[in-house]
Amino acid sequence: SESKLQLVHKHIRAFPDFPKKGILFRDICPILKDPAALTAVTDLFEEHVRKNHPQVDLIVGLDARGFLFGPLLAQRLGVGFVLIRKIGKLPGSTVSVAYDLEYGKAEVEVQEDAVAPGQKVLLIDDLLATGGTLYAACELMKKQQADILGCMVVIELKELNGVDKLKPHKLFSLLQY
Ligand code: PRP
Repeated sequence: SESKLQLVHKHIRAFPDFPKKGILFRDICPILKDPAALTAVTDLFEEHVRKNHPQVDLIVGLDARGFLFGPLLAQRLGVGFVLIRKIGKLPGSTVSVAYDLEYGKAEVEVQEDAVAPGQKVLLIDDLLATGGTLYAACELMKKQQADILGCMVVIELKELNGVDKLKPHKLFSLLQY
């Protein structure tokens, strides 16, 4: 029978030259469209967390595609979900971290009361490329004095070495390209 990982792999598409020339965009939309594939993703993340991080308090998802997988996983685990958003989208008091992109700058933000000091968090996104986004998200969690257990993605683009940028935090990826 087909493994869960094979099922997930079958539901990832690649688009050349998106969003700009030279980038091969890995698209997870077919996973969302297929209930069995989405269940397989959630199962695989859940198995990883139950085995390696059973003490987790919160799942922290990254804007925007971390929001597609994070709440499903959090509900399975019986823990809360927190949003890290691109700057300017969250009401109330917030904390932010700026980071460099290939061209220009970006900034991510979280509500000040989202995480209490010492809470054990796992960060989740669809994809790790350079690691800049997850790195900034970890910096944000550090500002909140969270205990970072690790980062999780569906897809890791190995040649960009994002995993090194995240050190000492651990990365768990379902699929590697
Ligand atoms: C993509 C992806 C990750 C990030 C990874 O998001 O979903 O969040 O880039 O890249 P990095 O490891 O080099 O930081 P994108 O910038 O396309 O934003 P979006 O989720 O709002 O579409």
